Amino acid sequence: MKNKPIPWYFPKTGAYEKELINKVIESNYLNDGDYTRLFEKKVAQFLGVRHCVGVTSGTAAITLSLMGMGIGRDDEVIVPDLTFIATANAVRLAGARVKLLDIEPDRFAIDVELIRKSIGPRTKAIVSVDVNGRAACYELLEPLAKKNGLVLICDATEGLGSRYNGRCLGTFGDAGCFSFSANKTVTTGQGGMIATNNTKLYYRILELKDQGRRFQGTGGNDLHPVIGYNFKLTNLQSAVGIAQLKRLPARLTQAKNRDKWYQEAFSGCPGIVLPSLKNEAGEVAQWADILVDDREKIQSTLSKLNIGSRPFWYPLHTQKPYFKKERGFSNASAVSRRGLWLPSYFDLTKKQVERISHLIRRVLEKKS
Ligand SMILES: Cc1ncc(COP(=O)(O)O)c(C=O)c1O
Repeated sequence: MKNKPIPWYFPKTGAYEKELINKVIESNYLNDGDYTRLFEKKVAQFLGVRHCVGVTSGTAAITLSLMGMGIGRDDEVIVPDLTFIATANAVRLAGARVKLLDIEPDRFAIDVELIRKSIGPRTKAIVSVDVNGRAACYELLEPLAKKNGLVLICDATEGLGSRYNGRCLGTFGDAGCFSFSANKTVTTGQGGMIATNNTKLYYRILELKDQGRRFQGTGGNDLHPVIGYNFKLTNLQSAVGIAQLKRLPARLTQAKNRDKWYQEAFSGCPGIVLPSLKNEAGEVAQWADILVDDREKIQSTLSKLNIGSRPFWYPLHTQKPYFKKERGFSNASAVSRRGLWLPSYFDLTKKQVERISHLIRRVLEKKS
């Protein structure tokens, strides 16, 4: 019997999303509105924070959090070298400068010791990244930011539902940022959310996301006391988000099972490293990941059999807008070269995981 293709990841929606979208269409209020407020409220309750603000994307969430905290022109913001480029681009969109630093090799978070050594007179903020649901080292980052008067924004775009030491990712620092793009555990197609306990920041972000208004008026004779922009999340998107949020607990359980299956399947396999995950602290990885030397061979073998995978990002210091010749990014470079995300879609079965690991083991055996 022919094996079915195994996708890397894809979004999954159902009857509840359709029902809520239909309600929005029937209401004929498609813009940012009641469904957005409800989605914000539900995410805030889930995270245990005072405020959430829906915005157009995770990128916008990071930019608005920085702007809301007064970060802008000529300020330097520390960003890890291994992340999706959006983290750095969001800093640029806020008008600030990006200072890249290397990561620590096991969990891919920014190296806190390097931050300590790099803080200069222009350094005003850190954007930590919880890569694939693995928390940055917040027990060190929070006091470090406080001691040095730095803003701490958490890029938790890949970490909705993952927890660290009893707290949800995205609830550390001054603000946490989430993405609802198509390959996230909860998707609205595109979309983002800012979570914060800082009420002043909350009201500032409301102004920034809606042309300087804190409250919506007629849309005509409104007062716009400050400059703002348009980063609104629509009712249509939020309807999908509300329905997706209901699926989150089951998806987190599925992700934990998936990673257990991969761990069992790769047990004792030389040449494969499964990056550490603090399950006991509540961490959940969004996608299954491995570190392996012969990544290209593995990828091409899987791809010939219609099995999807995705190599890790290139380090930012190698991308044209952030290019740097200097050394000092050895961990980011090594992890980037070896990192591969394996199939992680919601309906992945244990049998499929066993097949994938069997194929990968065969590639590695042939090599040795
Ligand atoms: C680590 C990281 N940061 C930022 C973003 C930006 O989110 P968005 O694509 O919603 O703008 C993403 C999402 O793709 C991401 O993975």
